[in-house]
Amino acid sequence: MMRDRLMVALDMPDREQALSIRQRIGDSVGWFKVGLRLFVAEGPSLIRTIVQNHRVFLDLKFHDIPNTVAEAVTSAGNLGVHMTNIHAEGGLEMMRAAAQSAAAFPQMKIIAVTVLTSSPIQPDQARHEAVHKATLARDAGLDGVVCSVHEVANIKKACGADFLTVTPGIRWGDQPQNDQKRVADPEMAIRQGADYIVVGRPIIQASDPGAAALEALSMMQRASS
Ligand code: C5P
Repeated sequence: MMRDRLMVALDMPDREQALSIRQRIGDSVGWFKVGLRLFVAEGPSLIRTIVQNHRVFLDLKFHDIPNTVAEAVTSAGNLGVHMTNIHAEGGLEMMRAAAQSAAAFPQMKIIAVTVLTSSPIQPDQARHEAVHKATLARDAGLDGVVCSVHEVANIKKACGADFLTVTPGIRWGDQPQNDQKRVADPEMAIRQGADYIVVGRPIIQASDPGAAALEALSMMQRASS
């Protein structure tokens, strides 16, 4: 089901606006992503509300000493989220500690950010670096990575088909790229083998967020027909 592969980034300023977007989108998507803006404003209580009806990706990109990251991952698991993430830049020892903490929460996947989709890096270099970081993440025992659509095929080849790839930087039609650099549309993301796509502004800033989510889903669907 494509709805289970679409994550809407609730990059909203407060609880009221986040829940209003969630209501307008409804059950057509399976996941909501809560990142820095909303989490810093509203904290764990909002996560506890959203996990009652949807799966949640807590996207706080932990990057600290191994012990601190491991404990933060345990806190994420205790919130009941279904995915959380750390920066691969934090190194092998940190990633191993995070994977060990996550193992206590079978419902929760833990993934590593490779190269930000906003990074102004050459595509070949991005691929090389993303594959290197993904390999370290796999060796550390993580479930997958965040990467751009353009790196998915190489990462799957290096780390195996079951190693998850979560891809932001999704744009279609004449939508502005904003701060994103390595972008692709939902159909291409699925064709390249992305397990999940993350869409923020193209849905949450649309005049009709529900219709924009359905449009993304139909493009994803097209890739599998
Ligand atoms: O609005 P847009 O679709 O660009 O939002 C993308 C979302 O994915 C944002 O919440 C951003 O923080 C997140 N993200 C990203 N690149 C990464 C990891 C997460 O854009 N490498």
